[in-house]
Amino acid sequence: MQVRFLPRAQQMKNLKKTKKIGVFDSGFGGLDILRGIVKENKEYDYIYLGDTARSPYGTRSQEIIYKFTVEAINFFFKNNCDLVIIACNTASAEALRTIQEKYLPKYYPNKKVLGVVVPATEEAVLKTRNKRIGVIATSSTVRSEKFIREIKKSDPSIKVFQQACPLLVPIVEEGVKNQEAINLILKDYINPLIKNKIDTLILGCTHYGLLKNKIKKIVGKDVTIISESSVVSKRLKIYLQKHKEIEQKLKKTGTVIFYSTDLTDKFKKLGSIFFGKKIDVKKITIN
Ligand code: DGL
Repeated sequence: MQVRFLPRAQQMKNLKKTKKIGVFDSGFGGLDILRGIVKENKEYDYIYLGDTARSPYGTRSQEIIYKFTVEAINFFFKNNCDLVIIACNTASAEALRTIQEKYLPKYYPNKKVLGVVVPATEEAVLKTRNKRIGVIATSSTVRSEKFIREIKKSDPSIKVFQQACPLLVPIVEEGVKNQEAINLILKDYINPLIKNKIDTLILGCTHYGLLKNKIKKIVGKDVTIISESSVVSKRLKIYLQKHKEIEQKLKKTGTVIFYSTDLTDKFKKLGSIFFGKKIDVKKITIN
Protein backbone atom coordinates (compact mmCIF):
# COMPACT_ATOMS: atom_id res chain seq x y z
CA MET A 1 0.00 0.00 0.00
CA GLN A 2 2.61 2.44 1.12
CA VAL A 3 4.83 1.69 -1.85
CA ARG A 4 2.01 2.56 -4.20
CA PHE A 5 0.92 5.50 -2.15
CA LEU A 6 4.28 7.29 -2.08
CA PRO A 7 4.86 7.61 -5.83
CA ARG A 8 1.27 8.77 -6.22
CA ALA A 9 1.78 11.49 -3.61
CA GLN A 10 4.93 12.52 -5.38
CA GLN A 11 3.04 12.56 -8.64
CA MET A 12 0.35 14.79 -7.16
CA LYS A 13 3.01 17.12 -5.79
CA ASN A 14 4.62 17.40 -9.21
CA LEU A 15 1.28 18.01 -10.84
CA LYS A 16 0.86 21.10 -8.74
CA LYS A 17 4.11 22.49 -10.10
CA THR A 18 2.64 23.68 -13.34
CA LYS A 19 3.43 27.36 -13.37
CA LYS A 20 5.71 28.99 -15.89
CA ILE A 21 7.45 32.34 -15.87
CA GLY A 22 6.20 34.74 -18.54
CA VAL A 23 8.58 37.14 -20.25
CA PHE A 24 7.08 39.88 -22.37
CA ASP A 25 8.49 42.36 -24.85
CA SER A 26 7.14 44.53 -27.64
CA GLY A 27 9.15 42.43 -30.09
CA PHE A 28 12.27 40.28 -30.01
CA GLY A 29 14.61 42.63 -28.10
CA GLY A 30 13.44 41.06 -24.83
CA LEU A 31 15.02 37.80 -25.98
CA ASP A 32 18.35 39.29 -24.89
CA ILE A 33 16.90 39.78 -21.39
CA LEU A 34 15.43 36.26 -21.51
CA ARG A 35 18.82 34.88 -22.50
CA GLY A 36 20.29 36.32 -19.28
CA ILE A 37 17.34 35.12 -17.20
CA VAL A 38 17.52 31.55 -18.50
CA LYS A 39 21.29 31.42 -18.08
CA GLU A 40 20.98 32.39 -14.41
CA ASN A 41 17.73 30.49 -13.70
CA LYS A 42 17.98 27.40 -15.92
CA GLU A 43 15.67 25.05 -14.09
CA TYR A 44 12.38 26.86 -14.70
CA ASP A 45 9.93 26.80 -17.61
CA TYR A 46 9.33 30.00 -19.52
CA ILE A 47 6.92 31.46 -22.05
CA TYR A 48 8.20 34.35 -24.14
CA LEU A 49 5.85 36.66 -26.00
CA GLY A 50 6.94 39.33 -28.44
CA ASP A 51 4.20 41.63 -29.67
CA THR A 52 5.86 41.98 -33.06
CA ALA A 53 2.60 42.82 -34.82
CA ARG A 54 2.40 46.07 -32.88
CA SER A 55 6.05 46.95 -32.20
CA PRO A 56 7.77 49.31 -31.80
CA TYR A 57 6.18 50.54 -28.59
CA GLY A 58 8.89 53.16 -28.11
CA THR A 59 7.17 55.80 -30.22
CA ARG A 60 3.61 55.20 -28.99
CA SER A 61 1.39 57.00 -26.45
CA GLN A 62 1.11 55.91 -22.83
CA GLU A 63 -2.55 54.95 -23.31
CA ILE A 64 -1.80 52.53 -26.15
CA ILE A 65 1.27 51.06 -24.47
CA TYR A 66 -0.85 50.35 -21.36
CA LYS A 67 -3.62 48.73 -23.43
CA PHE A 68 -1.20 46.47 -25.34
CA THR A 69 0.68 45.51 -22.19
CA VAL A 70 -2.50 44.55 -20.33
CA GLU A 71 -3.56 42.38 -23.27
CA ALA A 72 -0.17 40.69 -23.17
CA ILE A 73 -0.21 39.96 -19.46
CA ASN A 74 -3.74 38.54 -19.75
CA PHE A 75 -2.35 36.16 -22.35
CA PHE A 76 0.28 34.97 -19.86
CA PHE A 77 -2.25 34.59 -17.05
CA LYS A 78 -4.41 32.42 -19.28
CA ASN A 79 -1.37 30.32 -20.10
CA ASN A 80 -0.38 29.23 -16.64
CA CYS A 81 1.94 32.08 -15.65
CA ASP A 82 1.45 33.65 -12.22
CA LEU A 83 4.66 35.64 -12.57
CA VAL A 84 5.33 37.83 -15.60
CA ILE A 85 8.43 39.87 -16.28
CA ILE A 86 8.00 42.82 -18.59
CA ALA A 87 11.36 42.87 -20.36
CA CYS A 88 10.38 45.90 -22.43
CA ASN A 89 11.57 49.19 -20.92
CA THR A 90 8.88 51.19 -22.66
CA ALA A 91 6.10 48.97 -21.25
CA SER A 92 7.83 48.87 -17.84
CA ALA A 93 7.99 52.67 -17.84
CA GLU A 94 4.54 53.44 -19.20
CA ALA A 95 2.31 50.59 -18.01
CA LEU A 96 3.77 48.63 -15.12
CA ARG A 97 2.92 50.92 -12.22
CA THR A 98 -0.79 51.12 -13.12
CA ILE A 99 -0.83 47.35 -13.65
CA GLN A 100 0.73 46.75 -10.22
CA GLU A 101 -1.30 49.34 -8.35
CA LYS A 102 -4.71 49.14 -10.04
CA TYR A 103 -5.12 46.28 -12.50
CA LEU A 104 -3.72 43.37 -10.47
CA PRO A 105 -5.37 44.24 -7.13
CA LYS A 106 -8.73 44.47 -8.91
CA TYR A 107 -8.57 41.46 -11.24
CA TYR A 108 -5.62 39.23 -10.31
CA PRO A 109 -4.62 39.82 -6.68
CA ASN A 110 -2.53 36.62 -6.60
CA LYS A 111 -0.44 37.27 -9.67
CA LYS A 112 2.78 39.24 -9.97
CA VAL A 113 4.15 41.41 -12.76
CA LEU A 114 7.69 42.78 -12.55
CA GLY A 115 9.64 45.08 -14.84
CA VAL A 116 13.19 45.98 -15.83
CA VAL A 117 13.39 49.65 -14.87
CA VAL A 118 13.51 49.26 -11.08
CA PRO A 119 16.29 46.61 -11.06
CA ALA A 120 18.34 48.72 -13.48
CA THR A 121 17.95 51.92 -11.46
CA GLU A 122 18.72 50.17 -8.16
CA GLU A 123 21.90 48.76 -9.64
CA ALA A 124 22.89 52.17 -11.03
CA VAL A 125 22.32 53.83 -7.65
CA LEU A 126 24.60 51.23 -6.07
CA LYS A 127 27.30 51.74 -8.71
CA THR A 128 27.49 55.54 -9.06
CA ARG A 129 30.21 57.29 -7.10
CA ASN A 130 29.76 60.85 -8.31
CA LYS A 131 25.94 60.68 -8.26
CA ARG A 132 25.58 61.47 -11.95
CA ILE A 133 23.72 58.77 -13.89
CA GLY A 134 22.97 58.73 -17.63
CA VAL A 135 20.03 56.91 -19.21
CA ILE A 136 19.60 56.10 -22.88
CA ALA A 137 16.19 54.80 -23.95
CA THR A 138 13.35 55.08 -26.45
CA SER A 139 11.46 58.37 -26.83
CA SER A 140 8.44 57.05 -24.87
CA THR A 141 10.58 55.83 -21.98
CA VAL A 142 12.40 59.17 -21.79
CA ARG A 143 9.12 61.08 -21.93
CA SER A 144 7.73 58.98 -19.05
CA GLU A 145 10.65 60.11 -16.81
CA LYS A 146 10.27 56.76 -15.04
CA PHE A 147 14.04 56.25 -14.71
CA ILE A 148 14.41 59.69 -13.12
CA ARG A 149 11.60 59.05 -10.63
CA GLU A 150 12.93 55.64 -9.61
CA ILE A 151 16.50 56.89 -9.14
CA LYS A 152 15.35 59.92 -7.14
CA LYS A 153 13.24 57.62 -4.95
CA SER A 154 16.43 55.84 -3.89
CA ASP A 155 18.54 58.97 -3.61
CA PRO A 156 17.09 62.43 -4.36
CA SER A 157 20.56 63.97 -4.54
CA ILE A 158 21.50 61.98 -7.68
CA LYS A 159 21.44 63.89 -10.97
CA VAL A 160 19.96 61.98 -13.92
CA PHE A 161 20.68 62.84 -17.56
CA GLN A 162 18.42 61.22 -20.14
CA GLN A 163 18.85 60.83 -23.87
CA ALA A 164 16.23 59.47 -26.26
CA CYS A 165 17.89 57.40 -29.00
CA PRO A 166 15.16 56.76 -31.59
CA LEU A 167 17.61 55.60 -34.27
CA LEU A 168 19.14 52.77 -32.26
CA VAL A 169 16.25 50.27 -32.42
CA PRO A 170 16.07 50.49 -36.25
CA ILE A 171 19.86 50.28 -36.48
CA VAL A 172 19.87 47.03 -34.52
CA GLU A 173 16.77 45.63 -36.23
CA GLU A 174 17.89 46.45 -39.73
CA GLY A 175 21.32 45.00 -39.02
CA VAL A 176 23.10 48.16 -40.19
CA LYS A 177 26.63 47.14 -41.12
CA ASN A 178 28.28 50.54 -41.56
CA GLN A 179 30.31 50.74 -38.33
CA GLU A 180 31.35 54.31 -38.95
CA ALA A 181 27.73 55.43 -39.27
CA ILE A 182 26.72 53.55 -36.12
CA ASN A 183 29.58 55.09 -34.14
CA LEU A 184 28.71 58.58 -35.36
CA ILE A 185 25.09 58.20 -34.25
CA LEU A 186 26.09 56.67 -30.92
CA LYS A 187 28.54 59.49 -30.25
CA ASP A 188 25.92 62.06 -31.12
CA TYR A 189 23.58 60.55 -28.51
CA ILE A 190 26.15 59.79 -25.83
CA ASN A 191 28.53 62.77 -25.96
CA PRO A 192 26.10 65.15 -24.19
CA LEU A 193 25.90 62.63 -21.34
CA ILE A 194 29.70 62.40 -21.14
CA LYS A 195 29.87 66.22 -21.07
CA ASN A 196 27.55 66.02 -18.07
CA LYS A 197 30.22 63.87 -16.38
CA ILE A 198 28.10 60.78 -15.81
CA ASP A 199 29.96 57.87 -14.22
CA THR A 200 27.17 55.31 -14.76
CA LEU A 201 25.12 54.70 -17.89
CA ILE A 202 21.89 52.67 -17.97
CA LEU A 203 21.13 50.95 -21.28
CA GLY A 204 17.38 51.49 -20.87
CA CYS A 205 16.15 49.60 -23.92
CA THR A 206 16.11 45.91 -24.81
CA HIS A 207 18.10 46.47 -28.00
CA TYR A 208 21.01 48.43 -26.60
CA GLY A 209 22.67 45.41 -25.00
CA LEU A 210 23.68 44.41 -28.52
CA LEU A 211 25.53 47.71 -28.90
CA LYS A 212 27.22 47.45 -25.50
CA ASN A 213 30.78 46.98 -26.77
CA LYS A 214 30.53 49.98 -29.07
CA ILE A 215 28.99 52.09 -26.31
CA LYS A 216 31.74 50.97 -23.91
CA LYS A 217 34.38 52.23 -26.32
CA ILE A 218 32.70 55.62 -26.50
CA VAL A 219 32.12 56.16 -22.78
CA GLY A 220 35.50 54.75 -21.73
CA LYS A 221 36.48 52.56 -18.82
CA ASP A 222 35.53 55.05 -16.10
CA VAL A 223 31.82 54.83 -16.87
CA THR A 224 29.97 51.79 -15.52
CA ILE A 225 27.44 50.39 -17.97
CA ILE A 226 24.27 48.91 -16.52
CA SER A 227 23.06 46.20 -18.83
CA GLU A 228 19.62 44.85 -17.93
CA SER A 229 20.13 41.29 -19.10
CA SER A 230 22.51 40.47 -16.25
CA VAL A 231 20.91 42.72 -13.62
CA VAL A 232 17.37 41.42 -14.15
CA SER A 233 18.43 37.77 -14.14
CA LYS A 234 20.22 38.13 -10.79
CA ARG A 235 17.28 40.02 -9.31
CA LEU A 236 14.88 37.30 -10.43
CA LYS A 237 16.98 34.69 -8.67
CA ILE A 238 16.85 36.69 -5.43
CA TYR A 239 13.11 37.33 -5.89
CA LEU A 240 12.38 33.62 -6.24
CA GLN A 241 14.51 32.82 -3.19
CA LYS A 242 12.46 35.30 -1.19
CA HIS A 243 9.08 34.26 -2.60
CA LYS A 244 8.98 30.55 -1.92
CA GLU A 245 5.19 30.51 -2.37
CA ILE A 246 5.75 31.38 -6.05
CA GLU A 247 8.92 29.37 -6.55
CA GLN A 248 7.44 26.15 -5.20
CA LYS A 249 4.69 26.16 -7.84
CA LEU A 250 7.07 26.63 -10.75
CA LYS A 251 7.51 23.85 -13.24
CA LYS A 252 11.15 22.87 -13.52
CA THR A 253 11.86 21.16 -16.80
CA GLY A 254 13.95 23.96 -18.30
CA THR A 255 11.66 24.48 -21.28
CA VAL A 256 11.19 27.75 -23.15
CA ILE A 257 8.27 28.35 -25.53
CA PHE A 258 8.41 31.33 -27.88
CA TYR A 259 5.35 33.16 -29.21
CA SER A 260 5.02 36.26 -31.30
CA THR A 261 2.00 38.14 -32.63
CA ASP A 262 3.51 38.27 -36.10
CA LEU A 263 6.04 36.00 -37.71
CA THR A 264 8.25 38.36 -39.62
CA ASP A 265 11.48 37.36 -41.34
CA LYS A 266 13.18 39.80 -39.01
CA PHE A 267 11.94 37.93 -35.93
CA LYS A 268 13.06 34.59 -37.35
CA LYS A 269 16.51 35.95 -38.14
CA LEU A 270 17.16 38.32 -35.25
CA GLY A 271 15.29 36.32 -32.59
CA SER A 272 17.99 33.68 -32.62
CA ILE A 273 20.73 36.33 -32.51
CA PHE A 274 19.14 38.06 -29.50
CA PHE A 275 18.52 34.77 -27.67
CA GLY A 276 21.94 33.42 -28.55
CA LYS A 277 20.67 30.17 -30.05
CA LYS A 278 18.20 29.01 -32.65
CA ILE A 279 14.60 29.41 -31.58
CA ASP A 280 11.33 28.09 -32.89
CA VAL A 281 8.60 30.73 -32.76
CA LYS A 282 4.83 30.14 -32.92
CA LYS A 283 2.46 32.85 -34.06
CA ILE A 284 -0.50 33.69 -31.83
CA THR A 285 -3.20 36.34 -31.54
CA ILE A 286 -3.68 38.04 -28.18
CA ASN A 287 -6.24 40.81 -28.56
N1 DGL B 1 11.48 46.84 -26.28
C1 DGL B 1 11.54 48.28 -26.37
C2 DGL B 1 12.20 48.85 -25.11
O1 DGL B 1 12.91 48.18 -24.39
C3 DGL B 1 12.30 48.73 -27.60
C4 DGL B 1 11.57 48.42 -28.90
C5 DGL B 1 10.28 49.18 -29.04
O2 DGL B 1 10.30 50.42 -29.14
O3 DGL B 1 9.25 48.52 -29.03
O4 DGL B 1 11.98 50.00 -24.80
